[in-house]
Amino acid sequence: MLTISDEKLFHNCLLALYLIAPPTFISLRYIQAPYGKHHRSGWGPTISPALAWFLMESPTLWLTLLIFAFGKNSSNPRSLILISPFLFHYFHRTIIYPLRIRSSSGQRSTQPNASNRFPVTVAFMAFGFNLLNAYVQARWVSNYESDGAAGGWWFWGRFLVGLVIFVSGMWMNVWSDMVLVGLKREGKGYRVPRGGLFEFVSCPNYFGEIVEWLGWAVMTWSWAGLGFFLYTCANLVPRARANHRWYLDKFGEEYPKSRKAVIPFLY
Ligand SMILES: NC(=O)c1ccc[n+]([C@@H]2O[C@H](COP(=O)([O-])OP(=O)(O)OC[C@H]3O[C@@H](n4cnc5c(N)ncnc54)[C@H](OP(=O)(O)O)[C@@H]3O)[C@@H](O)[C@H]2O)c1
Repeated sequence: MLTISDEKLFHNCLLALYLIAPPTFISLRYIQAPYGKHHRSGWGPTISPALAWFLMESPTLWLTLLIFAFGKNSSNPRSLILISPFLFHYFHRTIIYPLRIRSSSGQRSTQPNASNRFPVTVAFMAFGFNLLNAYVQARWVSNYESDGAAGGWWFWGRFLVGLVIFVSGMWMNVWSDMVLVGLKREGKGYRVPRGGLFEFVSCPNYFGEIVEWLGWAVMTWSWAGLGFFLYTCANLVPRARANHRWYLDKFGEEYPKSRKAVIPFLY
């Protein structure tokens, strides 16, 4: 009885992950989440971006660890290895990234029109998404994934290929975020980022993030991993497009014409 209801909960949450992607993609083509470059008033109370990132991303650590502990694969070393990249990414996003932007926020706040605040409503929605996603990913790996428990070449082959993709994506994501946060730290307001992947796309941090979750989908070879990858695309591709237009509007002729929004040479 308990097993059936648990399976039902898992499948409903997995289905929800797929169902929210299309409306997210469509709505973000018209309305940008009002933080950072797209900050605007009228979205209720705000908090500091560093606190927002820490709070809204935190379920990916505490809920993942909690859910993992109750899975039937929880003591299997292969399942622990499989969940590690997910935890590694979110340790960075929840702990390291907020510390980095925290140390840069003092400078930006001296700029005219600085919108160095994060709406609680947006943080709340992201928190809800992270609850759902952490549950789906952690429950899949710790309980429903069966190849990991058995091991074998199929598990290790796809894990290693996915890991290479994931690590490449994370490198691009972290490097690009560091460049942007470095520009912000200079305290001269928004600037045209240059060098490396910025010569190809306006948002290499988003491109890196998309590549990471593609790697995760390969590693887990699951509907759960694929759902997260598709949701990440649905969330970040429209925002990258909006960021790209924002750069073109703000910097005009100064902005490199050959840059795409998020996918090098393509989009
Ligand atoms: N998996 C997902 O669905 C998902 C969703 C959202 C974000 N993320 C990830 O979370 C991270 C942060 O996302 P984000 O949307 O905040 O990224 P972002 O808009 O590129 O901003 C990153 C940081 O750089 C600063 N910045 C950006 N462009 C700048 C410029 N031209 N000059 C000076 N400073 C600049 C921003 O300051 P301001 O805040 O003041 O603009 C912010 O502190 C990224 O790695 C992204 O991939 C993932």
